[in-house]
Amino acid sequence: MCGIIGYTGDKQAQPIILDCMRKLEYRGYDSCGIAVSSKGITLYKDAGRVEALVKVIPRITGSIGIGHTRWATHGSPNRINAHPHLDCSGKIAVVHNGVIMNYQKLKKKLTIEGHKFRSETDTEVIPHLIEKYFQGDIVEAVEKTLSDLEGSYAIIAMVDGESRLIAARKDSPMVIGMGDRSNYIASDVPALLDYTNRVIYLDDGDIAVVDPGKVVIKRDNVEVKRDEQKILWSVAEAQKGGYEHFMLKEIHEQPRVIRNTVGEYAGNGEQSIKLPAKVSSVLFLACGTSHNAAMVGKYIFEEILNIPAHVELASEFNYYRRTPDYDMAIGISQSGETADTIRAMKKIKPTGCYTLSITNVVGSTASRIANQTLYTRAGPEISVASTKTFTAQLVVLYLLAATSPKLDTNHSTHLMAGLRQLPSKVQQILDEKAPIIDCAEYLKNQNNVFFIGRGINLPVALEGALKLKETSYIHAEGLAAGEIKHHTLAVLNADTPVIAPIGHDNTYEAMLTSIKEIRARGVPVIALAEEGNEVVEDLADRVLFTPAVDPLFSPVTNAVILQLLAYYTSKARGCPIDFPRNLAKSVTVE
Ligand code: F6R
Repeated sequence: MCGIIGYTGDKQAQPIILDCMRKLEYRGYDSCGIAVSSKGITLYKDAGRVEALVKVIPRITGSIGIGHTRWATHGSPNRINAHPHLDCSGKIAVVHNGVIMNYQKLKKKLTIEGHKFRSETDTEVIPHLIEKYFQGDIVEAVEKTLSDLEGSYAIIAMVDGESRLIAARKDSPMVIGMGDRSNYIASDVPALLDYTNRVIYLDDGDIAVVDPGKVVIKRDNVEVKRDEQKILWSVAEAQKGGYEHFMLKEIHEQPRVIRNTVGEYAGNGEQSIKLPAKVSSVLFLACGTSHNAAMVGKYIFEEILNIPAHVELASEFNYYRRTPDYDMAIGISQSGETADTIRAMKKIKPTGCYTLSITNVVGSTASRIANQTLYTRAGPEISVASTKTFTAQLVVLYLLAATSPKLDTNHSTHLMAGLRQLPSKVQQILDEKAPIIDCAEYLKNQNNVFFIGRGINLPVALEGALKLKETSYIHAEGLAAGEIKHHTLAVLNADTPVIAPIGHDNTYEAMLTSIKEIRARGVPVIALAEEGNEVVEDLADRVLFTPAVDPLFSPVTNAVILQLLAYYTSKARGCPIDFPRNLAKSVTVE
């Protein structure tokens, strides 16, 4: 989704802003722009990538400016709709992330009052409102403007001739980076890592007045204190480190990520898991890949802890008329900023249930809503397709079970031992990629691929399809293996391969039956099975072997194989792997 950046300090703003905009690219965007102020505001913007903009803009002098990467919502991605947007006088510039719901009403009123609009965006009402209210004090004008807005926003406003930026947020992420005689504003932390590791997260309703030497945060016109946090992510973690793509690098980081996340809660790590004593029902809320992790979580809670668990897509849950009663709600979100998940967590919290968030981003909105946050220790994930954060989420879910007082010591020791072996099992997969690459060569020419799974490997099938679809643009569908005979067999043929991650658990025989039914109709099957399994080798057209693990942990090993399969298929098709078209890393609008 849109990325915003602001700089004010003692250095030239243009190179810093363009550099930070490049770092925001991973959020997904289709146009971009920059405005620098120095005796007038100079503005450049266009459809397309930051790199294209860099090639055409001249050097602009000035030590204060704002930048934006836009993921189009209102109006197509073209130069006019790109941010920053200006008021009529050209003296006020604004960048915005979010959606202004009442912009049409505001636009009509402002037009009657004489304001001239250039774009189709909702954002453009903001500089015009600031202009309307501006009587020498930009802070006051922004405050008045915000009281007119309905919807979500993270905005930065800049007025020509001033050295301060005004930032405000409501339901959209924003962070202030504290530098030395320089301060920064950004949508998220990876943009700032080269410049500072000291940040302040704004709360909804905060207005920050950011000068080169100080940051003042106000709320209802009263100054408030927000704690500064130290970011532990390194610059190197947010770089490709010799890999061709972030996705491949992040897949390869998984042994370390699993080790770090286990260590965080069960080694000498700083965090501990403290769940309420009595939990007899759990609701998981999440979207996309995190929703698939939540589905694995349901199995973990029900199978190991014997606690009934329910999983909801956050985007659907938000429209249910009744808010159900649960003892505990677990929101899973890599970014901690997904609008649907945040809204769902806000909806369930007033019912009195204990809220837990599992997220990768310290200080994110999800972490501030929840009663308790369990951080995954995956480091920054740049590729739009989630890989290492998915496995890290699974690890936290396993840890929730393994550390539960409901388990006897033997059982929890067994689970911990299995978890500690996982990094070497995943490493084994990473070291033996040749069969996966070979399989990707076959898949690259397919138009439709189906993934089937059962039990704890059903979410893995869904995740395999999601990953292949989003990175390779091949139509892929994941479904319960048992459902195939109720509908999908009708469309299967020799050109619709079926990928089947098999669990060596109570679903094993039923998976073999499904594979036989599919093969009997001349449909090619690629199975994932434990090494040495000759039965599956005889049955399927191709087998991708996984190292033997306790079946409970097979979602991790199977998912890593399917991530690699998606990666190499996309590579073979020449897709922009890290930044799939139309997708965003952090989906901060509904
Ligand atoms: C797919 C992917 C998305 C996210 C979804 C939720 O690879 O990454 O489906 O899982 O947008 O994002 P988070 O986890 O940040 O809430």
